[in-house]
Amino acid sequence: MIIIVDFGSQTTHLIARRLKEIGIQTSITDPDDTLKKIKKRKTQGIILSGGPASVYEKAAPTINKDIFNLRIPILGICYGMQLTAHLLGGKVVSGKKEYGPTILQMANGKWQMANKLPKQFTVWMSHGDGIVKLPKDFKVIGSSDSVPFAFVENKKRKIFGLQFHPEVEHTEHGLQILKNFVDICGLRASLTIQTKIKNQKSKIKIKELEENIKKIVGEKDYVLGAVSGGVDSTVAAALTAKAIGKKFIPIYVDNGLMREGTEEHVIKIFKKIGIKPVIVNAVGETLLELKKITDSEQKRKIIGNLYIKIFEREMKKMKAQKLPVRHLLQGTIYSDVIESQGTKNSAKIKSHHNVGGLPKKMKLKLLEPMRNFYKDEVRKIGRELGLPEEFINKQPFPGPGYAVRIRGEVTEERLRMEKKADEIVLSELEKAGILPQVFLSFPVMTNAFSTAVKGDGRQFGEVVALRIVDSKDIMTSTWSRIPYGILQKISSRIVNEVSGVSRVVYDITTKPPATMEWE
Ligand code: XMP
Repeated sequence: MIIIVDFGSQTTHLIARRLKEIGIQTSITDPDDTLKKIKKRKTQGIILSGGPASVYEKAAPTINKDIFNLRIPILGICYGMQLTAHLLGGKVVSGKKEYGPTILQMANGKWQMANKLPKQFTVWMSHGDGIVKLPKDFKVIGSSDSVPFAFVENKKRKIFGLQFHPEVEHTEHGLQILKNFVDICGLRASLTIQTKIKNQKSKIKIKELEENIKKIVGEKDYVLGAVSGGVDSTVAAALTAKAIGKKFIPIYVDNGLMREGTEEHVIKIFKKIGIKPVIVNAVGETLLELKKITDSEQKRKIIGNLYIKIFEREMKKMKAQKLPVRHLLQGTIYSDVIESQGTKNSAKIKSHHNVGGLPKKMKLKLLEPMRNFYKDEVRKIGRELGLPEEFINKQPFPGPGYAVRIRGEVTEERLRMEKKADEIVLSELEKAGILPQVFLSFPVMTNAFSTAVKGDGRQFGEVVALRIVDSKDIMTSTWSRIPYGILQKISSRIVNEVSGVSRVVYDITTKPPATMEWE
């Protein structure tokens, strides 16, 4: 088994997922519990994860130095590597910050960790600090333009370090690097990289998920389901319906912030699942609560609170009919959890309305069967459940909807502009035949204004930013290389057809550093 010590990285859980894909058992542990855990279970390797802190800060999480003398191979990733250097006599400083893709150049020589790696490949960085002095006996295996110590090793003590993240989807050969470490640990990756997809599939046991839902809900209780028409809540609902049948009552809350046609889509989904959803209209209530609110975290919290208020209202109605409703099903997935500060040492990126945005006290108990899965895994489960592609391949859409795509106050007028622009983007991508390949696309009302000349007259209108990204598991993304002709068409249509818009810009920022949504 390999122990993964969690220093709060957004992608710690992803390291475990990658190792699972190559058949390696892992256990994620708190830094303080590491030695105890190693003593308890046979540990063949230790991975020190990344994290948001700086090793030279007073309160930074650390680890007992004894782990370096156990003769167990150690791989430090990002913060984990910096901490290794810091504890073993190297020096880490607030350095050249680097976020997103960069080219890694391998050094000449024969390195076990470099097995089957090309001379040059793209890796993803996400760090503000850097090592300026390596500890004794460490050698550089690879470097990038701005990071001289990007890939290092101490061969004798089998301690390795990576400044970049091998676990993220966009790092090339990341799985091979982890496999090389696994080999050094004396473990055998039981599968080839080519068969990892098959392995992933067989690891998700639908029956187990169903049994778990039955166990949580019990014999008599009813479950209300927060459904949005999105893939996460659809898969969670299909699974729950399979587990407890008619004791599951899906509810769709129309808050006026969803895409056109969402209600019809929800009705279609539940026709297929065989349960009639309850539709609640909360458009007026939502817009009223959002009046004058400009802060994105506040918007999420208001929407999260309102959701719970509405579900508790529905629960009361059902209890009056003598239905023992005790649970609320949500389609929360792992990326929602980790971004809302899901682990001890992690940073809060944003309070996803269904996790960090929820009120502290709730009458309903949460049921979240997708909580430990990533988007692509949820899609796989959906396919295994036999759901049609049109439900599974849908673009993600945030729970707070257009509210987090309109910077500043959500007024009726700006909501109208956002909806119209969104419709244009979707229809042009569809016409061009590339919509199914696009992970996520949307316009943002930026709250920035610029001058336009329309029909020889001056206008001062809002700038729309177009965001189109490629991703699989949401943890990292790149901007889509949309052909210029299509971008031109979208831009022309938005400035011509959406009154009040002066220009369109294309967002070419990767995640990290930028999140997909603007808020
Ligand atoms: P970011 O912007 O964090 O988005 O890169 C990752 C994914 O999460 C969605 N998202 C949300 N979903 N409640 C949700 O249900 C939220 O508060 C929320 N914020 C972002 C986003 O659309 C993307 O798919």
